[in-house]
Amino acid sequence: MSKAVKARAREKLDLLIVNADELVTLSGESQRPRTGKQMREIGIIRDGGLAVKDGRIVAVGKTPDVTKAFKAENVISANGKIVLPGFVDPHTHLVFAGSREDEFQMRIEGASYMEILKAGGGILRTVRDTRKASFEKLVDYGTETLDSMLEHGTTTVEAKSGYGLTTKDEMKMLEVVQRLNQLHSVDIVPTFLGAHTIPPEFFNNPQGYVNLVTDEMIPKVAEKGLAEFCDVFCEKGVFTLEQARRILTAGKNSGLKPKVHADEMSRLGGAELAAGIGAVSADHMLFSSNQGIKAMAEKGVAAILLPTAAFSLMTNRYADARTMIDFKVPVALGTDFNPNCWVENQQLVIALACHFMKLTPAEAITATTINAAYAVSRANEVGSLEIGKKADVIVLDVPNHKFLGYRFGVNLVDKVIKNGRIVIDKEASRNEFRLMEEQKM
Ligand code: NIG
Ligand code: FE
Repeated sequence: MSKAVKARAREKLDLLIVNADELVTLSGESQRPRTGKQMREIGIIRDGGLAVKDGRIVAVGKTPDVTKAFKAENVISANGKIVLPGFVDPHTHLVFAGSREDEFQMRIEGASYMEILKAGGGILRTVRDTRKASFEKLVDYGTETLDSMLEHGTTTVEAKSGYGLTTKDEMKMLEVVQRLNQLHSVDIVPTFLGAHTIPPEFFNNPQGYVNLVTDEMIPKVAEKGLAEFCDVFCEKGVFTLEQARRILTAGKNSGLKPKVHADEMSRLGGAELAAGIGAVSADHMLFSSNQGIKAMAEKGVAAILLPTAAFSLMTNRYADARTMIDFKVPVALGTDFNPNCWVENQQLVIALACHFMKLTPAEAITATTINAAYAVSRANEVGSLEIGKKADVIVLDVPNHKFLGYRFGVNLVDKVIKNGRIVIDKEASRNEFRLMEEQKM
């Protein structure tokens, strides 16, 4: 028994989880991401147990050790199941109004993402819908999305603005994010993405829009404490490398940490920019150069790979995750939830990462937990099951972790525990349903 377990022996606790076939802790590095071969070492405890008090993890170990030392009224048996840290989704466009299913059909029929954007659709379509939507409506839509994310095991999520593109509308979006963070049990990390695309009012004066972002939006967002990160869609026909550098530098000067939508559809040098400017992450990276990848590894810049976004682009191209892992870049995975890629489910992201990017299930689990937490500066709080961290825990109804990615297209979540509270319990609702059925007979 560990010292910590002994010290707290027989304390009355809020919650015990026992008899997990596998307790996947991701412990060891704690606040550090895992790189290279470490991504396969996920800290499995067989017949694992975990104790929670006041929303925090107070013990992790073999079930007999944990139960000898701790008593709780609330006990979850995870027999036949596995226990993991809640997923962290490090890249989403959480808040928007409207939908783009008509564009989905156009893309099936051959139109490209960029053609649709250039014709005034894509991001611009969602900007029109989002500007029109009320604060309350956006909160409602965001709540529905967060509910769905939580049901699929995501307990921390990054959320970008970027469908306002005026100072007022960008602030509105970030205030919606702030409100959602107060209302919902999922924790949200806010990112300012005023540089998502050039809005119609500035088509003839893109530089004027860049100035608006650097001189007005960033200072206001920072002053009100509405964002922790600043992101830019650095892409051919959107923001150039130079514009992106200016915007991210202005963000940095106001205390916003840089992130980059990098090399998604062309090799512009986004990875190099991310490394050069000391970004926390470069995201997408479908076309990044090996040099850029190497530079990121040297600086500890995380790569947030978004296989569901690549899937929805329909170009059969995925980021070169194997090279990134070989070069020891901290690789993370996210959904890129947005109206072009409407997916709330990190389990599907894991499945695509395994099938198309050749990650092993263990690597993909690392990329959606501790490395994803690192990619949004939350590795001190979440991403692994370790004493002192938040009790954000999921129970999955599979016998071992190798089922992630292997069994796909269904939700494997049985329970979600957020801050030590059971917020989703599928087993309980199934039992309730069965009881009702029986009473009918
Ligand atoms: O990460 N690439 C730019 N932004 C999003 C898509 C947003 C949208 O199409 O609405 C992305 O893919
Ligand atoms: Fe994105």
